[in-house]
Amino acid sequence: MTTAPQPPSESASQSAPKASDINRIDHIVAVLSGKGGVGKSIVSSLLAVSLRRKGHRVGILDADITGPSIPKMFLSQAIPLGSDPLGIPPAVSRTGIKLMSINLLLRSERDAVIWRGPLIGRAIQQFWTDVVWGELDYLIVDLPPGTSDASLTVMQFLPLSGALLVTAPQGLAGMVVHKAAQMAEMLHVPLLGLVENMGYFVCPDNGKAYEVFGPSHAEELAQTLGIPFLGRLPIKPELTLLSDTGRIEEYPAEEFAPIVAHIEASAQAPRLPPFSIDLGGL
Ligand SMILES: Nc1ncnc2c1ncn2[C@@H]1O[C@H](COP(=O)(O)OP(=O)(O)O)[C@@H](O)[C@H]1O
Ligand SMILES: [Mg+2]
Repeated sequence: MTTAPQPPSESASQSAPKASDINRIDHIVAVLSGKGGVGKSIVSSLLAVSLRRKGHRVGILDADITGPSIPKMFLSQAIPLGSDPLGIPPAVSRTGIKLMSINLLLRSERDAVIWRGPLIGRAIQQFWTDVVWGELDYLIVDLPPGTSDASLTVMQFLPLSGALLVTAPQGLAGMVVHKAAQMAEMLHVPLLGLVENMGYFVCPDNGKAYEVFGPSHAEELAQTLGIPFLGRLPIKPELTLLSDTGRIEEYPAEEFAPIVAHIEASAQAPRLPPFSIDLGGL
């Protein structure tokens, strides 16, 4: 005769060590935009790669539960996650960046996740509490587009050091970025700066730069928001190729030098004490 499995007793669950007992994460930086397809995941990844190259211990939490992109950018093939008595072990990239994404937990990367907001929020919370991140200098959080559940969970639940805003030259992107900035402000998440992606394309035939999506408004936008403008990332076909084949760590990312320097400097700045605000049931 078999007996039904019993839930762990309270004393056992109290004494069993958990991931959150050992995780020590110094700085958590969310990458947000509000708009889809502007390059949040590319910027999150290149920020992580550049910080790693400078010797930091780095992780990426993919908070885009319904449209995850991080594993595809870092891993050429699916890898089994292994096991850890403390919680969910992250995948580790070639250069040692720890990764967690819903896609690492699905049977197939093509499986759709069709969840309502509360479940999405729970998954993000678990990525924070149950993943065995260990000791990290930086955890980069790649946000989905929009200012709804997932972004709200990240901003309310994770002790963020700040958020990096990503925009693109199109006027529509700028307008939506404004909304994301406003959300961060309402939730008292410091905005660390603005990065423009896909600002221009340098023609390999004549070396001339073309503003394919029109003139940049990023500096004006940064000024309006009262945050530093950290730089422009060009359209680079090799970046598309590397990110589509799990080899983003091979991209030189020299454009990221000032961005990384700024993130490191802001990590040194004194931090405001934590606080919580009542969002009236949000
Ligand atoms: N600067 C760039 N040069 C070339 N391809 C890019 C660049 N930025 C983004 N892409 C490509 O555009 C697509 C969308 O970028 P992604 O970072 O996934 O956007 P988001 O996370 O904001 O939805 C990706 O497939 C990526 O390879
Ligand atoms: Mg993305």
